[in-house]
Amino acid sequence: MKGIVLAGGNGTRLHPLTLVGSKQLAPVYDKPLVYYPLSVLMLAGIDDVLVITRPAEIDLFRRLFGSGSRLGMLIDYAVQEEPRGIADAFRVGADHIKGEDCALVLGDNLFHGAELPAILRRAARKLRGCVLFGHRVTEPRRFGVAETDAKGDLVSIEEKPEHPRSDLAIPGLYFFDDTVTGIARDLRPSARGELEITDVLRVYLAEGRADLVRLGKDITWLDAGTPDSLLDAGRFVQDVRHRQGTNPGCIEEIAMDMGFIGADACYELGAGMSDSPYGQYVMERARAHHRDPAPTAFLEE
Ligand code: DAU
Repeated sequence: MKGIVLAGGNGTRLHPLTLVGSKQLAPVYDKPLVYYPLSVLMLAGIDDVLVITRPAEIDLFRRLFGSGSRLGMLIDYAVQEEPRGIADAFRVGADHIKGEDCALVLGDNLFHGAELPAILRRAARKLRGCVLFGHRVTEPRRFGVAETDAKGDLVSIEEKPEHPRSDLAIPGLYFFDDTVTGIARDLRPSARGELEITDVLRVYLAEGRADLVRLGKDITWLDAGTPDSLLDAGRFVQDVRHRQGTNPGCIEEIAMDMGFIGADACYELGAGMSDSPYGQYVMERARAHHRDPAPTAFLEE
């Protein structure tokens, strides 16, 4: 399965922070925001990823991740000239997907939870069209919203409805089969002039090929697209670091746990940043992996 991180857009809700910089490179505690969505694809077992950015920032992302080889991955880059909408990712990324299944994650979404790797791998396995997720929120009108019937089956999907039919928001992570590029190619822009991801999901729903997977309370989902939510995300990661001793979004550790790289390579990546608490954490995880390589156990799920 291929992966896409959509990391363009103008980030207008974060101005002036994003006037001359990318939202997805903004700091969330100890690392750039984009580490978190990339880490979610990795946890799903995806090691071939396209990062889509604005023209002005593609070289910054390239400097950050390079070819991906140090993480045992293939990471490539493409430009979205204008923010034409989230579903435009499948037009920009059509060559990358090339007839394979694909996971799309939005560059400002953060997910965390012990069950997450198992949920992602199950979702990728059960794919028979598309899989979208649902997470209960207090302000559904800020998001795509899913409505289900009494049996829990998906019946409607709406983008930022004024009067939401449920409190089930659709997070920015989706799995699609290879028909997604054709669906996106035929899509018409919405009233606000964008190629909406919810319109793609609706096509699958109409064809009876859309599955909703609910994310329970044990999964944290944050959309870090506003000043408050960006700060909340940083506070959340700091809290996990201090209370649980783990580090959400640590791509070097995940690359090791997923078997993309070995513990020695992981240690070297940490050693290259050994002045920082992040680098020290990576080195410590690599040492722990040498002692007990158990974290890869979830691969058996
Ligand atoms: O966070 C989940 C929500 O994300 C979903 O519930 C909504 O259905 C979905 O439309 C989206 O809503 P947002 O208002 O949060 O989308 P936003 O415009 O902030 O874009 C999300 C990310 O995608 C952000 O990192 C910027 C990037 N993006 C967005 C657009 C429209 C692009 O790179 N290019 C684009 O053209």
